[in-house]
Amino acid sequence: MTPAQPTAEGCHSSNVRRARILAHRQVADGTFRLRVACPEIAATAVPGQFVMVRLPGRNDPLLARPLAVYDTFPADGDTPASFDLIYVVHGRFTRSLCSEAAGADVAVWGPLGNGFSPPAVDHLVLVAGGIGQTALLALGKERLGAATYGASPRSIAKAKRVSFLWGARTAGAFSDLRDFESAGMETHLATMDGSAGHHGTVVDLLDACVANDPDGFRSGTAAIACCGPEPMMEAVAAWCERHQLPCQVSLETPMACGIGICFTCVAAVRDPDGGWDYRRTCIEGPVFDAETLVWHPSDADVLA
Ligand SMILES: Cc1cc2nc3c(=O)[nH]c(=O)nc-3n(C[C@H](O)[C@H](O)[C@H](O)COP(=O)(O)OP(=O)(O)OC[C@H]3O[C@@H](n4cnc5c(N)ncnc54)[C@H](O)[C@@H]3O)c2cc1C
Ligand code: FES
Repeated sequence: MTPAQPTAEGCHSSNVRRARILAHRQVADGTFRLRVACPEIAATAVPGQFVMVRLPGRNDPLLARPLAVYDTFPADGDTPASFDLIYVVHGRFTRSLCSEAAGADVAVWGPLGNGFSPPAVDHLVLVAGGIGQTALLALGKERLGAATYGASPRSIAKAKRVSFLWGARTAGAFSDLRDFESAGMETHLATMDGSAGHHGTVVDLLDACVANDPDGFRSGTAAIACCGPEPMMEAVAAWCERHQLPCQVSLETPMACGIGICFTCVAAVRDPDGGWDYRRTCIEGPVFDAETLVWHPSDADVLA
């Protein structure tokens, strides 16, 4: 059975917007950046939220895909308020999307999900793997006071420092690092092939950063926000547990509706009573405290 989901054309369409592509360009190997005119989403999205995107009038692929809101931009002259998405070409949707030019429309709904809420700390450390940086830029800018997000003023505890650690297979995967640097973030790269930054994983890079700056990663003064492939996030969560640092992760679980109807997006999450249950990543997530996640639900009965 096809899961219920809003479509650009019909049912539940009140929250689906047709939005104009203002700019669309390649920014890294197989990676594209899209600017979409949509004042409603641009004005309300907070760091870590996402939108569901479809190509209007097409049924292949049938289901929309979730993409993180990378950054938002206020109205400027004739240009309406807009937001940026950055995506890697993987399969049918992203292959179709990358051939759409400025001036075409996308169907979008959102902003969706809970967003990040790391504790107030002196040093916020953003850890990205692959395309995971898309969920983290706005959080770092907000905590440094370099930008504000959301419909109403939010009470945000500022960080004295924000570091951005980014791991990828190779240097060609990195894009728009300047966005992080110009906001005042300290940036550190790692690549598996050694073509840029530290040679190794982003967890190796965390070890190197702690060795250089142990005071900056002391328990009680630092916190981690993380997004990337699930094995990488699990490794970062384990690293945080060893270092007694709070960690929030944004899951990239496949989604069909994005609005809580279809239950395709569930993740196993611990309850306060010690048990666990499935939670919808699109509603209760995509951001979870790492310590509450059961990464391998088949082992969960043993843990419970
Ligand atoms: C909350 C949220 C935010 C997201 N934000 C972004 C974002 O900002 N930018 C972005 O590029 N992606 C993001 N994703 C992932 C994105 O939704 C998928 O990459 C998307 O499904 C790709 O659609 P597709 O039709 O091109 O590929 P699909 O046909 O869905 O997949 C093609 C192949 O690629 C694999 N694949 C799909 N996604 C990934 C992935 N993320 N990593 C590794 N392999 C994958 C699939 O297993 C399959 O084998 C996000 C996901 C979630 C849940
Ligand atoms: S994607 Fe449908 S319930 Fe989460």
